[in-house]
Amino acid sequence: MIYELEPMIVEDAKNLHEFFNQIARETNFVTFEEFESPSEKVCKSIIESAKEAPNYAYCIKKDGKIITSLIATTRNGRLRERHKSNFGIAVSKKHWGKGIGSLLIEKVIDESKKNSISKITLKVNEKNTRAIKLYKKYGFEIEGIYKKDRLVNGVMETGISMALFL
Ligand SMILES: CC(C)(COP(=O)(O)OP(=O)(O)OC[C@H]1O[C@@H](n2cnc3c(N)ncnc32)[C@H](O)[C@@H]1OP(=O)(O)O)[C@@H](O)C(=O)NCCC(=O)NCCS
Repeated sequence: MIYELEPMIVEDAKNLHEFFNQIARETNFVTFEEFESPSEKVCKSIIESAKEAPNYAYCIKKDGKIITSLIATTRNGRLRERHKSNFGIAVSKKHWGKGIGSLLIEKVIDESKKNSISKITLKVNEKNTRAIKLYKKYGFEIEGIYKKDRLVNGVMETGISMALFL
C-alpha cells in the first residue's frame, strides 16, 4: 500500500476522535486513557488551530478511516519562542513497521524548514524504544529526563525530551 499524507480538515474531527480512541486501546505510549481521549469537539479545535502555519495537522486514511495522525504546534507566537515547534505522531498498530513513522518525521522536517523553525521538540516515554529509534534515525538528540512523568497502570514512568536542531 502507498501511504499518502493529507492535511486534516474539520470534517475529519469525528474520524480523528475515533482514531485516538483506537490508539489509546492499542498502546500506552499516548498521554490519555481511552475514556479521556480528545472528544470530537476538541479534535475539531485541534484541526482548526492547525490551519495556520507554522502549525499543521496531517493524516493518512485507509478506506476513509484515519490510520495515522501528525499534529504540530508552536509554543506561542512570541518572537523569543517562535523558532520552536512541538509535534505528536501516532500510527495504528496494524500499520507499524511499514515506514509510516519515517514518512511522518520527513514531513515534520520539511514543514519546519518551510516555516523557519530551527528547533523541533517532542516528549517520549523512555520505554518507547521504537519511537526513540525512529527519532534518533533522523538526528533527534536527548535533551532531558522527566522523572515520574506519567502514571501508567499504577506505575510512574519516565519521559525523555528530544530535539532536532535545524
Ligand atoms: C512510534 C511510531 C510512530 C513508529 O511508527 P512506524 O510506522 O512503526 O515507524 P517506521 O515503520 O517508519 O519505523 C521507524 C523506525 O522504528 C524502528 N523500528 C521499526 N520496527 C521496530 C521494532 N520492531 N523494534 C524496534 N524498533 C523498530 C526502526 O528504527 C525504524 O527505522 P528503520 O526501518 O529505518 O530501521 C508508531 O509505533 C506508533 O504510532 N506508536 C504508538 C504511538 C506512539 O508511540 N507515538 C509516539 C509518541 S512520542
